[in-house]
Amino acid sequence: MVVSARQAAYDFRDAVALVTGGASGIGEACVRALAAAHAHVVVGDLTLEAAEQLAGELDGRSGRVVPVQVDVTDQARVEALGAYVQATFGRLDLAVNSAGIGVTNQPVVDHDPEMWRNVLAVNLDGTFLSLRMELDLIRRTAGRGSIVNMASVLAHRGWAGSAAYVASKHAVIGLTRAAALENAEQGVRVNSVSPGFIETPLLVERHDAEARAAMGALHPLQRLGSPDEVAETVLWLLSDSATFVTGADFAVEGGFLSR
Ligand SMILES: NC(=O)c1ccc[n+]([C@@H]2O[C@H](COP(=O)([O-])OP(=O)(O)OC[C@H]3O[C@@H](n4cnc5c(N)ncnc54)[C@H](O)[C@@H]3O)[C@@H](O)[C@H]2O)c1
Repeated sequence: MVVSARQAAYDFRDAVALVTGGASGIGEACVRALAAAHAHVVVGDLTLEAAEQLAGELDGRSGRVVPVQVDVTDQARVEALGAYVQATFGRLDLAVNSAGIGVTNQPVVDHDPEMWRNVLAVNLDGTFLSLRMELDLIRRTAGRGSIVNMASVLAHRGWAGSAAYVASKHAVIGLTRAAALENAEQGVRVNSVSPGFIETPLLVERHDAEARAAMGALHPLQRLGSPDEVAETVLWLLSDSATFVTGADFAVEGGFLSR
């Protein structure tokens, strides 16, 4: 008999979670999984319409699910998001930093510096600004909590034509480790997850079916991953099943990094 992992659902009742980049792909899967586990969820995303649509579907089924427009590269907007969470729920317990943008297909020698800065601004500065706000808010309100940053297999390997993305994701691992050390005694755990290639809009919009099949074949499990498979590990890290885990990175990548 195949037992679905979904049968072992977590219970995040009364907890308040923030998911940046929560309106699409991996972030959306985390929002759905957290809502199914009874958490209140704030869907923070640049794309308000998609966040509103998701919240409209999930709000009130168990906990509340509320959309907020945020650009994670904008410190004032990120801080305003924190103030909104505090005013609305009075606390923050959990956070997933999934807002990110993809590969640029530019070799370093020809790389457009503006594009470089844009990728680093979202993937690294955005994670830093979100993390900074979340740590402060969790420490002042819930007192303890758990945060997951979205890294990538490209936080562990090079990839020709994607230096900005590769550099940003390597840096997310370093940021995660430093933040974990600084917040361990306060009871806030900080970890990262490194997905392999996952079938999300970020990937589908840039690659046709043939290219996606070739990307799937890079994984020993011979396929792309699904957003739900990443969310499973994220929820475990957020939960009290992972109370002795901090500063770690978890690969959800069909064996990609074992090659
Ligand atoms: N899809 C993959 O194969 C894959 C693999 C490894 C890591 N990741 C990482 O997972 C995360 C999510 O990727 P995805 O594939 O789900 O992408 P996606 O494009 O489906 O979702 C990303 C979300 O982030 C939002 N976003 C983008 N810039 C933002 C900003 N400045 N402020 C706020 N929100 C912003 C987008 O609107 C979108 O809703 C990213 O950090 C990505 O680097 C993805």
